[in-house]
Amino acid sequence: MDAEVVRIYEESLERCSSNPRFLERFYEIFLACSPKIAEKFKNTDFARQREALNGSLHAMVLAVRDEGGLLEKHLAELAEKHSSRGFGVGSELYDYWLDSLLAAVKETDPQYDKRVHDAWERVMLIGIEYMLSRYA
Ligand code: HEM
Repeated sequence: MDAEVVRIYEESLERCSSNPRFLERFYEIFLACSPKIAEKFKNTDFARQREALNGSLHAMVLAVRDEGGLLEKHLAELAEKHSSRGFGVGSELYDYWLDSLLAAVKETDPQYDKRVHDAWERVMLIGIEYMLSRYA
């Protein structure tokens, strides 16, 4: 992937991560999208969940640079957990996920603009595509 896009994503991620409200807002927006989503998180410890998601958003930087199968290394286990054998997260739920994340970035990053939006979208779509390829 274009190094400039990864840089824009990474810098925006740092600005967002420095605000503790970022992932709280993400889960508020995401869970409000559909009762089907809220149902999947009904027993979730959100402090732990936010930590885990923060880790995978950072891992995406390494994964999309894809130096020697890093996508596989960082996302294989996560993809398995979200697959039909695990949480059962189908493609329609990823649309809500991405829209919710982009909305939380827009609220949180003071330097948000179209370039920032597009960088998040491009990086996340690589991760989402990989996760969905392992769904069935
Ligand atoms: C690329 C997109 C996504 C990423 C990077 C991501 C990341 C994560 C991470 C890091 C965890 C913690 C895994 C663990 O406990 O080891 C997790 C758990 C989970 N994710 Fe996702 N996720 C994504 C999309 C989704 C979507 C679209 C849904 C749909 C509802 C979803 C539902 C869940 C559920 C139900 C859990 C388990 C929560 C619990 O432990 O109670 N995820 N996700």
